[in-house]
Amino acid sequence: MRTLIATLGAVLLLAGVVWAQQQAPEQPLNLAYFPKKAVEFTHTPHLKEAGLQCEECHHKKVDGKIVKCSTSGCHDVFDRKDRSEASFYNMVHGRGSKDMQSCLGCHKEAAKGKFKSMGRELTSCKGSVCHP
Ligand code: HEC
Ligand code: HEC
Repeated sequence: MRTLIATLGAVLLLAGVVWAQQQAPEQPLNLAYFPKKAVEFTHTPHLKEAGLQCEECHHKKVDGKIVKCSTSGCHDVFDRKDRSEASFYNMVHGRGSKDMQSCLGCHKEAAKGKFKSMGRELTSCKGSVCHP
C-alpha cells in the first residue's frame, strides 16, 4: 500500500511538472522591433535540427516563466547603435560584449560545424535565413 501511494505521488508530481512547463510557440514569430528589417523566427528548427534547449536562449525567467527577449527590463532598447546588454539589436548581432550570446554568434559557430552546408545562409546580411 505504501509503495502504491508513493508511486502515485511520484506520478502526480511528474504530471504537475510537465503540466507547468511552457510550450514553445510553433507558429513563426514576427520580430518586428525594427520594422524595416523584421525577422521571422521559428522555434521548431532550433529545437529539432539544432537541438537547442530552451535555456540556451531563455537564459533568465521572470516570475518563473519564460518571457520574450524584448520584455521590459531585458533586451528592451531598440536603438541599432546601442551596444549595451539591454540592446535588442546587440542581442541579435552580438556586437557588444564578447561573451554575450547572440543569434548571429551562434549561427556563425553553426556554419563552421554541423551546419556548414547552410554557410552564408546562416551568416550573411542579405539573402540569409534572417534577411531573405
Ligand atoms: C534559438 C533561441 C530560442 C530557443 C532555443 C527557444 N526560444 Fe522561445 N523564443 C525565442 C525568441 C527569439 C522569442 C521571441 C522573443 C521576442 O519577441 O522578444 C521566443 C518566444 C518564446 C515564447 C513567447 C513568449 C511570449 O510571452 O509571447 C515562449 C512561451 C517561448 N519562447 C518558449 C520556449 C520554450 C518552452 C523553449 C524550449 C522548448 C524555447 N522557447 C526555446 C528564442 C528561443
Ligand atoms: C545557440 C544557437 C542558435 C541561436 C542562439 C539562434 N540560432 Fe537560429 N539557427 C541555429 C541553427 C543551428 C540553425 C539551422 C537549423 C536549420 O534550419 O536546419 C538556425 C536557423 C535559423 C533560421 C532558419 C530556420 C527557419 O526558421 O527556417 C532562422 C530564421 C534563425 N535561425 C533565426 C534566429 C534568430 C532571429 C535568433 C535569435 C533571436 C536565432 N536564430 C538564434 C542556431 C541558433
